[in-house]
Amino acid sequence: MTASQAACLRTVLQVGHHLLDRGASALTAVEQAIRTLERSGLFNAGAGSRVQLDGVRRMDASIMEGQDLRAGGVASIEGMLHPITAARLVMEETDHVLLVGPMATTFAKHFRLERQRTSMPKRRVSYGTIFNQKQVARERHGTVGAVALDRFGTVVAGSSTGGIDGMLPGRVGDTPLIGCGVYADNQSGAVSMTGIGEGIIRIAMAKEICDRLDEGATPKTAVRHVLKKLVDRIHGSAGALVLTPDGRFAIRHSTPHMIAGYWTGDGEPVVKDSYG
Ligand code: GLY
Repeated sequence: MTASQAACLRTVLQVGHHLLDRGASALTAVEQAIRTLERSGLFNAGAGSRVQLDGVRRMDASIMEGQDLRAGGVASIEGMLHPITAARLVMEETDHVLLVGPMATTFAKHFRLERQRTSMPKRRVSYGTIFNQKQVARERHGTVGAVALDRFGTVVAGSSTGGIDGMLPGRVGDTPLIGCGVYADNQSGAVSMTGIGEGIIRIAMAKEICDRLDEGATPKTAVRHVLKKLVDRIHGSAGALVLTPDGRFAIRHSTPHMIAGYWTGDGEPVVKDSYG
């Protein structure tokens, strides 16, 4: 973790806490926290997103709230600085949950969402070359995510990403998929995932963790069991932020590191790159 990343995370925790303290919804706190991370260019989301093998940034994001189980997401959106805001707009302004590809981009343009300043040069993709190389899926600099609980007792989870290294054009990960990258239910909790999306999708991790919370597991136990299942069954790699409606939380990962932080308002925000 660089000093800039640590400073950015502390700012994000302060922004989120300040909003909640002034009575804002968890939805706004999560959206604003993720917008700060997307704008920073320090993480793999928004301005810092990875490119797919054809040189194009196609980003994914989603958000879900636990009171009415409303959710919105965008996948393969291009050129936008804040995919998380596009996801919130899908949730609040449409009857749908997920918009994809060029039409997700057109939707965001309709709402005049801020665009990224730099566009990357497009590359020709030779599938012959791609399939002759052994592609190693790696997530660098991390998908960004946040969970929050507001004074009304509503939990919210959100996530935004530029994907993973070596992605085929058109690849979509767990982040925009409700139940995989995020889930939120006031009867169980809010979960936001990071890691290699292919494994997270196959276990439907966010919903699986919420189901265990619903059965009475603590956040720590729920996430530990589901991470173990991911590793034992399919050799996956992930990390999770988990928060319950009564304010208990856990941060756990099967990856060597996970840059994350928390703050309840007492003392200073805690930011670390490893949670045991
Ligand atoms: N978790 C981000 C991705 O796999 O795209």
